[in-house]
Amino acid sequence: MDSLARIEAKEAEEAAAAKAAQKAQREAVQAQIAAAVETAVAEATAAQDGASGASDAGGSGGGNVASNVDWNAVPVSDMTLFYPGQASFEWVQNGKTHGGARPFTKGGDACTTCHAKELETIGNKLVAGGELEPTPIPGKRGTIDATVQAAHDDENLYVRLQWADAGHNPAPFVDGGKMDPDNQIKVAMMITGDGIEYGDQAGCWASCHADNTYMPFDPGADAISGNADVAAQLEAKDTITKYLTESRTKVEIKGRRGKAQGGWDKLKPADEVAALFDDGTYLDLLRVYADGSATNGYLLDRRVKNDGEIAAEANLAGGMWTVVFSRPLASGAPGDVPLEAGKTYTVGFAIHDDFSSARFHHVTLNTSLALDDDSAQINVAKQ
Ligand code: HEC
Repeated sequence: MDSLARIEAKEAEEAAAAKAAQKAQREAVQAQIAAAVETAVAEATAAQDGASGASDAGGSGGGNVASNVDWNAVPVSDMTLFYPGQASFEWVQNGKTHGGARPFTKGGDACTTCHAKELETIGNKLVAGGELEPTPIPGKRGTIDATVQAAHDDENLYVRLQWADAGHNPAPFVDGGKMDPDNQIKVAMMITGDGIEYGDQAGCWASCHADNTYMPFDPGADAISGNADVAAQLEAKDTITKYLTESRTKVEIKGRRGKAQGGWDKLKPADEVAALFDDGTYLDLLRVYADGSATNGYLLDRRVKNDGEIAAEANLAGGMWTVVFSRPLASGAPGDVPLEAGKTYTVGFAIHDDFSSARFHHVTLNTSLALDDDSAQINVAKQ
């Protein structure tokens, strides 16, 4: 009994020390971010004052996208984006693989109910390789500490993300080590639409399936071209983009008896998919690239880029990335979830760091966003 008590005391001590070390590390990173933001702001101001607009990397400089926004007056949300590996929407719903499956599917718990405080532990574990990451990238960080700010005026939503650059760690499984050599970074924001099962509990996980690109049940180009009708409707050649379960007649979750998880080929007919779209059943997807270009679109049966309005800029200055983008609040454009006062939305952010693509990103869990409401994780402040 005595030795058990001693072991327990020692374990408690170790846990406390580990926690304190983590906290200190987090605080150090936040301090580093704060310092880098100051440098970046100073440089940006200097660049605006001079005519040159020079920056280390990234595209458009001068702060034109949200020139009417005083970011110093906008609330700052600290977000930890973590590395998810191959933890798919099927994986999280399967009790065999995921301890939280039942409370999630039957109990109505959100991902954040259980994981909000342990994102660093999860990210650091998954990025190192293992069951959920068969092809780790040596040196890649497990989490990105980012700040997110959002503002609005009468017409537009403005979002700013900032985070520290971490240098380059080549991906050993691609020639040259850069999966997307043209884009040192990319930022995505997804907004959950209507009628998506688990959409508010899971955020963008609703679209992350076990048969997407670089996921364990990626069917491969031959199987895709072998299913000509589905391939045509999905405009798919080599791989399957993210999609919503609602666009399929069946999605295999458990994968018993060697069945492939996912449902890429169980596609509903185009008219049923169109009806879902009309009902607002999609994930709105806004994407910003390293040169400050941006695309607007949505996910339903596949990833669609449309000509919805979006403006963006991206900059690396003083070791700090700053990405700003805006879109109309409620244009009524197809594929844009309209943002209205008095409603709370579930959003998700993804950062593709260090020339990565597909699932080799860092993501948030379900995140709440609302206009002028400080009970939301992201309070979109009126300017
Ligand atoms: C009811 C609590 C609960 C909910 C809700 C929940 N999980 Fe989990 N999750 C767990 C438990 C328990 C584990 C196993 C933890 C361990 O092994 O230490 C786990 C493990 C994980 C892991 C692997 C971590 C590791 O250490 O290997 C990931 C990734 C994960 N969950 C993601 C999610 C996502 C995404 C959601 C929402 C779609 C979610 N979880 C919802 C309880 C939960």
